[in-house]
Amino acid sequence: MIDPERIRELAAISGGFRKACVLKGAFSDGFLSAADITKIFQAVSADEGRLSCLRAYTETAQRPDLQQKLFREPPETEDLEAWGRSRFGGSRFGIVLDRPPLENDAFEARLSEVLTGIYDTAGTAFGAAEPHIFIGDYGYSPFGAHHDQEVGRILHFHLGPGVKQMYIWDEETYVAATGGTMACFDPGPILDRATRYDIGPGDIMVLPTEGFHVGYTPDFSIGFALCLMDADDGDTLRHAADQALAHALEEVENDGIGLQLTVDISRALWIENTRAASNLSLVPPPPPREALPPENAKLARLGRFPVVYRERDDEAVLAGRGHSLELPPAKSLAALADKLNAGKEMTLAEMVELLAADFSEDAAEYIAGQLWTWHAIAPVA
Ligand SMILES: [Fe+2]
Repeated sequence: MIDPERIRELAAISGGFRKACVLKGAFSDGFLSAADITKIFQAVSADEGRLSCLRAYTETAQRPDLQQKLFREPPETEDLEAWGRSRFGGSRFGIVLDRPPLENDAFEARLSEVLTGIYDTAGTAFGAAEPHIFIGDYGYSPFGAHHDQEVGRILHFHLGPGVKQMYIWDEETYVAATGGTMACFDPGPILDRATRYDIGPGDIMVLPTEGFHVGYTPDFSIGFALCLMDADDGDTLRHAADQALAHALEEVENDGIGLQLTVDISRALWIENTRAASNLSLVPPPPPREALPPENAKLARLGRFPVVYRERDDEAVLAGRGHSLELPPAKSLAALADKLNAGKEMTLAEMVELLAADFSEDAAEYIAGQLWTWHAIAPVA
């Protein structure tokens, strides 16, 4: 586990997760181990639709051929170094897992606690928390020195065993050094103008949104990165990806889908699913409650988990804590979700009264009762 005090410390030294910094010795194997990573890898391979989650690199090139092979034959050992080395014929290698399903209840529960601590100290919830995993000894980041567009703050949890270097340039310095804002695939000559951070096993690094960076991983190591996307960025991305999907469907008849479109679409679907579950997709949905709340008890949204209402054509979905209900669209449902997300405290009877504008009393009672059943609302302490 990670001590909540360490999260407060990280928030303080990073100015609310905005400035680059490294918190040494923040977590142990008990929080996230190589065995957890192997399980996540296996969960990716278990679903045919997840092939685009996996990318394979040598020091110099992306290897789509190996992507297929690694996906079909995921590791069965937690010694990912020996396993990867044999798959890549002994050479240096890099494997990236983008937005993998975690499907590891114990780790998700631990991560969820950390996220709650992060949200509390940052004073904000985020639109989505995207996991990415980096495995190998591939030297510089395969994407070169770069700026991550449309990505929020990144927390890098370093498992090691190798030490990773992260080099960061502010925009002005980077432009002066490279002559522009394009990715730089030969960062060696400009490293002396960057700030260097060493990230060892058990360290957490905060990577800010601003500026440019490149990682250098000379010895085998595993990193788990979490991109915390602001809620507004999630909306922007979803909108952009809707458009990308429309373009892709036009293009697919001519040229097939390009890599960037595949990445855009898989990211949009990930965010969409995450939000639909309204659970940040990082904890398993709790089992439904059976008993009703005490009469007249004031109820409120539980913690940071939003109640989601969304309309699509002539249907609507109300969702909370990983459970959902399909309903006809109704203004009162949107109003109820808004009130709960704004932190309003209500009794079950008050919720029923609000919903009675659009639903029969029986239906209104059922809908409000479901929010309780799902643990989406809880008694105010
Ligand atoms: Fe990056």
